[in-house]
Amino acid sequence: MVNSFDIRLPDDWHLHVRDGDTMKDVVGHTGSQFGRAIIMPNLKPPVTDAQGALQYKQRIQDALVGQPAFEPLMTLYLTDRTTPEMILEAHATGAAHAAKLYPAGATTNSDSGVTNIAAMDDVFAALADTGMLLLLHGEVTDSAIDIFDREAAFLETILPAIIRRHPTLRIVLEHITTEMAVDFVEAAAPNVGATITAHHLLANRNHMLAGGIRPHFYCLPILKRDSDRIALLRAATSRNPKFFLGTDSAPHAIEDKESACGCAGSYTAAQAMALYATAFEEAGALPSLEAFASLHGPEFYGLPVNTDRLVFERKAQIIPDRYTFGPSAVRPFFAGTSLQWTTHRA
Ligand code: NCD
Ligand code: ZN
Repeated sequence: MVNSFDIRLPDDWHLHVRDGDTMKDVVGHTGSQFGRAIIMPNLKPPVTDAQGALQYKQRIQDALVGQPAFEPLMTLYLTDRTTPEMILEAHATGAAHAAKLYPAGATTNSDSGVTNIAAMDDVFAALADTGMLLLLHGEVTDSAIDIFDREAAFLETILPAIIRRHPTLRIVLEHITTEMAVDFVEAAAPNVGATITAHHLLANRNHMLAGGIRPHFYCLPILKRDSDRIALLRAATSRNPKFFLGTDSAPHAIEDKESACGCAGSYTAAQAMALYATAFEEAGALPSLEAFASLHGPEFYGLPVNTDRLVFERKAQIIPDRYTFGPSAVRPFFAGTSLQWTTHRA
């Protein structure tokens, strides 16, 4: 049995850190395990232009002074008012690596998202021209579609046309949750990849709903069947470069989760790499963790891999009940559970 190992320092290719005091309380958790992270722009109001992205990046960097080197990689939030010029400016100023498309109303803070994806062709063309990536929250928002089918419906009705019309655009289907999405991405051209969260590798919808309703398992896209979880685990451990790590760690104050109408989002940042190691070890695939966590993402984004290392030790840790989160607290995913791994930066 392996009791310790180290890998090239991973990156988190999908992360929510929020802003202000709450951001200061969570971003260090990510910096303790990752060299870089793609920062989601779904603030209130969202980060929609180069200037906003540069300012947000500065606030994150200010919060990390004195901590290990960590680079926030910024994204623009696409709205119905995004223009190709805004994409060109974000590229020219180095403000953003990618643009994030939330179908309006799909998830937390997506009200300003895109209402008509078919009208975004000029913006997508600008992304392709600049080499910026398109990051997709791949769910339809039609209230008539069952919540468990919204990712599948997006793959059936929306994504094929985007890929067909923009064959050189690099597209990341974020936080995939279904066997169907795994099959779709595997069959697509090499410019289509996907991120996979730790919670979707470790939990299915029974964790959320059987024997009581557990709001900290509620995230979007919603947890699916165990057969889907197993397909995601197969993809993550396959060493197929299309699949890479994105935690979608999404902190919310406890009172906003444990509520009659709780927010979507699971907080995994503090134990992210120990959670992924747990999933990979259960699949007998620890040796594949580095490719998924540290190599495939940089390759897909066209960035160098990190030179620092992350050390894993087989030393049990119990996930705390809560962390400070601005004036409130955030309850981590799997709070109270014992994990067999702890990590530290070398
Ligand atoms: C995210 C959040 O809280 O910002 N929530 C979530 O359930 N994943 C938004 C998102 O990525 O969908
Ligand atoms: Zn997210």
